[in-house]
Amino acid sequence: MLAIVSDACSVVSSRMVLLKGVDKDGFVWYTNYESQKALEISENPNASLLFYWDGLHRQARVEGFVEKVSDEESEQYFHSHLRGSQIGAIVSKQSTVIPGRHSLCQEYNDLEAKFSDGSPIPKPKQWGGYRLKPEIFEFWQGQQSRLHDRIRYTPEVVDGKRLWKIDRLAP
Ligand SMILES: Cc1cc2nc3c(=O)[nH]c(=O)nc-3n(C[C@H](O)[C@H](O)[C@H](O)COP(=O)(O)O)c2cc1C
Repeated sequence: MLAIVSDACSVVSSRMVLLKGVDKDGFVWYTNYESQKALEISENPNASLLFYWDGLHRQARVEGFVEKVSDEESEQYFHSHLRGSQIGAIVSKQSTVIPGRHSLCQEYNDLEAKFSDGSPIPKPKQWGGYRLKPEIFEFWQGQQSRLHDRIRYTPEVVDGKRLWKIDRLAP
């Protein structure tokens, strides 16, 4: 789950996104750069991610700063999708009000016919990825009698070296 605070009206909004990549640079997902979340990120790039594993009774919270991934990364990922998903990404003017499902289906069918010769489907310019660069992590592990473990990692600089300060929090 991704949560963002819109600066314009100081309200918080959250939604699920599919995590497509994680490495030392951060957490990557793909979306529409003209969606509500994109507008909010452009106003305030601070965001939080929440992961929950029911079976393991585990939660991970990540807070950080969001930036766009490179055009090359977005381009590569877009073309790794099935053609149907590529067309769907073009059709959806994400977060806008639409008259009904029929308008999506109509546009989808038109584009499917247009690209039925198998020619490459161009990535729409408003479609691409974001990367959250983590600043704070918190790992939660459920334990007996509500005595859960909560371990928070915050960055600190010691003798010029960037290290993690590790604290245990009350559950
Ligand atoms: C399981 C799940 C995964 C989703 N993954 C994505 C995703 O990767 N990218 C995306 O834009 N929306 C994804 N969505 C839809 C978003 O939750 C949301 O409805 C959409 O991005 C519009 O959000 P916005 O209007 O706040 O911008 C997903 C929804 C669910 C339930």
